[in-house]
Amino acid sequence: MRRTAAEYHRLTSYERNRLPGGGLDWANMPGTAKHYEGYPAIALPREFDLPETSLAALYTAETDAAPPAGSLTASVLSTILFTAYGLTARRRAMGEEFFFRSAPSAGALYPSEIYLGAWEVEDIPPGLYHFNTIRHTLTRLREGDFRGTLGTGSIDAPPLEGTVTFYITGIFFRSSWKYRARAYRYVLLDAGHLMENLVLGLVAASFSPFVSLDFDDDQAAMLLGYHPMKEACLAVIGLWDKGMLRKKKRPALDPLGEAAAEASRVAPDEILYPEIIDIHGSGHVISAGNQPPPVMKERLGLRAQEWKSLSPLQAGPEKHAFAQCVRRRRSHRNFVSTPLKQGDFSHLLGLVAAAAVSHRTKPPHGSVLSIGFLVHAVEGQDPGFYLLDPDRGTFGQVRAGAFSGPMASACLDQEWLKNAAVHFLFLTHLKTLDEAWGARGYRYAMTAAGRLGQAIYLGCTAMELGCCGIGAIYDQEARHLLGLGPEAALLYLVAAGPVRKSIS
Ligand SMILES: Cc1cc2nc3c(=O)[nH]c(=O)nc-3n(C[C@H](O)[C@H](O)[C@H](O)COP(=O)(O)O)c2cc1C
Repeated sequence: MRRTAAEYHRLTSYERNRLPGGGLDWANMPGTAKHYEGYPAIALPREFDLPETSLAALYTAETDAAPPAGSLTASVLSTILFTAYGLTARRRAMGEEFFFRSAPSAGALYPSEIYLGAWEVEDIPPGLYHFNTIRHTLTRLREGDFRGTLGTGSIDAPPLEGTVTFYITGIFFRSSWKYRARAYRYVLLDAGHLMENLVLGLVAASFSPFVSLDFDDDQAAMLLGYHPMKEACLAVIGLWDKGMLRKKKRPALDPLGEAAAEASRVAPDEILYPEIIDIHGSGHVISAGNQPPPVMKERLGLRAQEWKSLSPLQAGPEKHAFAQCVRRRRSHRNFVSTPLKQGDFSHLLGLVAAAAVSHRTKPPHGSVLSIGFLVHAVEGQDPGFYLLDPDRGTFGQVRAGAFSGPMASACLDQEWLKNAAVHFLFLTHLKTLDEAWGARGYRYAMTAAGRLGQAIYLGCTAMELGCCGIGAIYDQEARHLLGLGPEAALLYLVAAGPVRKSIS
């Protein structure tokens, strides 16, 4: 059944006193690692070595030159995969070992998976691999070079693949187990977080990643061999090099077969939610994109009274390099009302703005989202609701007032949120998404919000501040609080600020 972004969002909204009932079926809890029976595996090196680069430097890097030949080795690839989604902490709970990762995940359910086409990587035979995060190994699914498989449908774009291609997928039931039909939101947001880690890791290793959300969904399912109703490819990240400009002929592709599709099973009793199947399926069509992208902030009808310029982005306030931030990043909820220092606040805004206008993304974040923030306690800033304009490098107040308390209530009464110095808000106009890009626009907006959320997590980690992504929102209550119209939505909130104990 065809579904628009606006319909899916409405169907899966949380409203006060109308939350879905029922507990969690612990016996049916999904596993967080994909295992392939009978496929060969390669152990990846476990030394992770990235240059000591600041986040600010990564966001201002202009490295579109091809890296030197031979610079992509198994060791570099291993570091990049660890950066994107590696295990960074472990805990024992209920007799089981539990792992935290470099990217956060709603409910710690980790629906994302990474596959990669290692077409020209030293020490790794050319082929298509699945990355097993828990074992830090690559499982070989196909032998050979399959560049050119993912045509871009009606869009006349260069092939996506360079020397290596990363394919980011999501397994729906991992999140649906807890969040049911609403899980598609989290699967997309989670994928965005991981994508930002991956892109930054590639830039830190001197590569020039290119992110595409536009590819033939059926071809992706065929290439990667997952179960097409249970798992979906959400993004393809290639490396720019001259090879991309050679138009390769589509290679012939045999189905991978039952054993590979069976690896998408994550629980004994899986439920396929029709709302998810419908919204994802409706996004199969890629809009031709001939029209100039709409400016989301204008569609939301929000106006700031007076705009102020952002300070130029410099690494000054960052205490930890990107590579350490990836290892240290965790969600923190013990916010205190100590005001956020002016310098840290400006830096955070600068990072978000730089991430939003990054040329490594298509379509630009700015056109699928509008970025707002609520100030609770920031040195030199009046409390209120503000907008950030990344294109102009400015921010301005929409309305003065104490929003953080009511917003904490609108986030399913997560009262600890009211102490956070700032709430970043990722807003969109759902009807505009549908009109401009069809249902695929929902993928663009949610993954963009996840990517920007990761920029905030990493920025906070660099400055030893706390941060937590918030997907649990009473949708209508949040809309009313912000004065948004019925077609607008707060897709994601990320809280940031000083926390109780030092997290250094
Ligand atoms: C999309 C998304 C939504 C989230 N929503 C919430 C939330 O509503 N409340 C909360 O306390 N944590 C939320 N989190 C944080 C996760 O619970 C956290 O990432 C997970 O438990 C893993 O822990 P870590 O981030 O410390 O590695 C969210 C994270 C993501 C990525």
